[in-house]
Amino acid sequence: MNATHMSDRRGFLKGAAWMGAAAVAAGCRLDRLGFGDGGVMQDYRYTKLAGRDIRVGFVGIGSRGRGAVHRVSMIPGVKIVALCDRMRERVDENLKWLADRKYPVVPKSYVGDEAYKDLCDFGDCDVIYCATPWHLHQPVALRALYGGKLPLVEVTSALTVDECWELVEASEKFRIPCMQLENCVYGEIELLELNLARLGMFGEIVHAEGAYIHDLRGLVPSTTHHPSEAHWRYGENMRHKGNRYPTHGLVPICQTMGINRGDRFDYLVSLENGPHNVNYERMKKEILKDDDPRKFDPPAEMGDMNTTLIKTVNGKSIMVQHDVSSPRPYSRICLISGTKGIVRDYPFQCAFEDKYYDQKAHEWFGEDAANEIRRKYMHPLWRTASDVAKKVGGHGGMDFIMDLRWAYCLQNGFPLDMDVYDLAATSCLCELTEKSVRSGSKPVRVPDFTRGNWRNVAPWGVVNVDLKKMGLDAGGVDKDAAALNV
Ligand SMILES: NC(=O)c1ccc[n+]([C@@H]2O[C@H](COP(=O)([O-])OP(=O)(O)OC[C@H]3O[C@@H](n4cnc5c(N)ncnc54)[C@H](O)[C@@H]3O)[C@@H](O)[C@H]2O)c1
Repeated sequence: MNATHMSDRRGFLKGAAWMGAAAVAAGCRLDRLGFGDGGVMQDYRYTKLAGRDIRVGFVGIGSRGRGAVHRVSMIPGVKIVALCDRMRERVDENLKWLADRKYPVVPKSYVGDEAYKDLCDFGDCDVIYCATPWHLHQPVALRALYGGKLPLVEVTSALTVDECWELVEASEKFRIPCMQLENCVYGEIELLELNLARLGMFGEIVHAEGAYIHDLRGLVPSTTHHPSEAHWRYGENMRHKGNRYPTHGLVPICQTMGINRGDRFDYLVSLENGPHNVNYERMKKEILKDDDPRKFDPPAEMGDMNTTLIKTVNGKSIMVQHDVSSPRPYSRICLISGTKGIVRDYPFQCAFEDKYYDQKAHEWFGEDAANEIRRKYMHPLWRTASDVAKKVGGHGGMDFIMDLRWAYCLQNGFPLDMDVYDLAATSCLCELTEKSVRSGSKPVRVPDFTRGNWRNVAPWGVVNVDLKKMGLDAGGVDKDAAALNV
């Protein structure tokens, strides 16, 4: 990057901070006018990386980042050129893993709390893959955009409405996409539902439900990790109400329902119970060691179950839940309900009206009929890539399919599957659900980050990858090299 480019970015940053403060003071944050002078980024074809190696720098290589390094190392035409973590041992461990597998590149090391800034500003790479704790996602992504690099950001990618606007505006200003790494969009059932929706099997979709219900009591608070590592997720729960992790259940629904593409969120209401299942106070007293800084934390804010209802401007409804502390089996619910049928997961169930199957939708289809639907209407992307993806690993294969898709899109100059507006509309729920819960579940408006452009864009289509063109030989994937399932 040359000096003029850099000073342009710095000047922009100063301006952005000032405008943000003015907008908040005026109380007009929801309707803040973007000043990304390049125009909207929906369906934007970023062609700079087409036809050449894509150089990736990783920031945050803990459990999730390490799995991503493993997966990405297996994609032809994508080169891992930099590894950044605040902890030296994390970088060294990943360097060794790559070297042991004779990876053709020795990535450059960036170590320290602020090292990501060097990588984003001056690093010789095209893409920043961020898997840090939540509070760093947006600063890393923003820095990457200012440094001329394309951010791929773990969920939840931003924690406040202002952070979301900053990413939208920077992505528009610099004409660089910014994608939230929502792997659940590529789950088998989520993709199946999308395919069924595009085939018209649901009729008109009128309601959907998603969730992140995952018993993480063993992790929050963790005594097996050093507090500085384990603290961040626990700390989020201690300090906040609302849904801090809305995207796993919500983003696939949005892709299927055409949120930001023909419809958009209008307002939400959010309700939460108390922290009954995890007795943080008892844990603090009985489990944590005397020198553990968490012993002095104030009482927990986050309840066990947060339920949020969203109304869209086209009059559709969505329910999204978050519960990481109850003794409940894992579920993302994955429910799509239309005028002609319904599908849900955990367990997989479906029912359609007799126009398609000689049956009324008064009862769930039997197991055989449901499995036939699952087989017959399997999404082409899952059909193409699930064998190799399951071999590589990562949440039953969906993680690798996600990585294949962004790589394939960038290699061919196609629009990415999820854009910065999708990131913003779903990540902003962190702040907005908390606001609603704390106000006694009052309705809260959701900003239109597209500023009206949602009317002009078609819903996400039924996409695929060409493994042959990518040079990926499914048979050649080394089982030993397979990604960790994190
Ligand atoms: N999509 C999914 O299915 C999925 C699954 C697991 C985790 N995640 C997300 O991935 C992210 C990471 O989760 P995790 O479980 O790997 O956490 P982790 O604590 O194991 O890893 C985070 C890493 O970031 C590093 N880090 C912290 N501050 C840093 C800084 N200033 N600069 C560089 N590195 C820094 C830490 O040292 C650590 O190695 C989280 O956002 C989490 O929500 C997503």
